[in-house]
Amino acid sequence: MNVFGNLNLLTIVCQGDRSRGTPSTASLSRVIAGNVGSHLVEGRMTQDANILFSPFRLGDLELKNRIVMAPLTRNRATHGTDAPNELMAEYYRQRASAGLIVTEATQISKQGQGYIWTPGIYSQSQVEGWKKITAAVHETGGKIFNQLWHVGRISHVSLQPGGAQPVAPSAIRAKAKTFIETGYADVSEPRALSIEEIGAVVGDYAAAAENAKKAGFDGVEIHAANGYLIDQFLRDGTNKRTDAYGGSVENRVRFALEVADAILRVWDAKRVGIRIAPVTPFNDISDSDPARIFVHLAEKLSARGLAYIHVVEGATGGARDYAPFDYIRLRKAFAGAYIANNNYTRELAIEALSEKRADLIAFGKIFISNPDLVERLRVGAPLNPFDQATFYGGGAKGYTDYPTLAQAAMEQAPREGTGAG
Ligand SMILES: Cc1cc2nc3c(=O)[nH]c(=O)nc-3n(C[C@H](O)[C@H](O)[C@H](O)COP(=O)(O)O)c2cc1C
Repeated sequence: MNVFGNLNLLTIVCQGDRSRGTPSTASLSRVIAGNVGSHLVEGRMTQDANILFSPFRLGDLELKNRIVMAPLTRNRATHGTDAPNELMAEYYRQRASAGLIVTEATQISKQGQGYIWTPGIYSQSQVEGWKKITAAVHETGGKIFNQLWHVGRISHVSLQPGGAQPVAPSAIRAKAKTFIETGYADVSEPRALSIEEIGAVVGDYAAAAENAKKAGFDGVEIHAANGYLIDQFLRDGTNKRTDAYGGSVENRVRFALEVADAILRVWDAKRVGIRIAPVTPFNDISDSDPARIFVHLAEKLSARGLAYIHVVEGATGGARDYAPFDYIRLRKAFAGAYIANNNYTRELAIEALSEKRADLIAFGKIFISNPDLVERLRVGAPLNPFDQATFYGGGAKGYTDYPTLAQAAMEQAPREGTGAG
């Protein structure tokens, strides 16, 4: 049972956004159900399907296939320390057949935390915890990047150091929920960061990047998607500053680029990626001209040699065509690899790769319920359905107990044996 009840964050955000045309809970469920159903294809490999399982050179890393495990918050870190633990190591080990794993979002500081029991990467015990995970993934032949996260205004005073207000580019409260120890709660009223404080947050990103290196990660992904701090600076719906960090496109990308530059002093650009979600309404985020800001950002990051942009196409967890956006133009603005995400099915993934609209495809929810997703996609096997009630929080149930094809066959065999006898 999910400690937060039979709801999930995506559902809540979508319910809150009906006025702007985000899918309702019911329609979101249909999207999710349809997504799983469409994977129930015959167990045959077509010529084109091979592309999904072909190796890919990402920066200086050789990935064994084009399948990425999308970052997925699961709220299973050790209570009290927010350190990763053995259970999390088992979960990531089970999924190491992905060409690349991007970890769940990981707060760079206590101030950067917005939900209970998410892992951090700012303390020694957290670094030690992550070492177990990177070792487990590497032993199993996988590659793993750490998603670096500051939630900005999507937080609650009970999660902040000293019960302080969450911080943001501007003091505008989001119409969004978070979950805290007692369950779901409205996010708290934020306060605007001063210029000096912005510098300190950039410093926290650099320290987290160093810790990610110590923890044995192959690289880091800057979380600039889904309405969290970097996205809040990028978009004019949340950034009303009148100083060097607000107003013009150049000013609104300044924070993102300062974060990138601080990380690039720690990591080679070949080992750094960024995640963006140009049109998502998630966490009450909006912009009057997403193409302008995100194409500009992509050009600036391209010049810095970043390994990839990871793009959530459409509304996160919702409609892919939520708002018009020219992803091809975005891709052309960036010289590195393009990872596509959001409601991809096996067929859509093969199509996008074949048509060179993407280099890699990230799968989220179906990776939760299918530890051997790569093998299932390879043979066209049915997928285990995911259980939304165990997405956020809890223990092994709905986390490490989803069966692989081999485990399912073993369970099936004795039953069939009994039936025949
Ligand atoms: C349980 C859950 C947790 C998620 N956590 C994160 C996260 O930590 N970081 C992030 O960038 N996106 C997160 N997302 C969004 C997913 O990475 C992905 O963009 C979304 O699920 C759509 O992809 P899919 O249709 O393949 O699931 C989360 C989604 C779900 C369902």
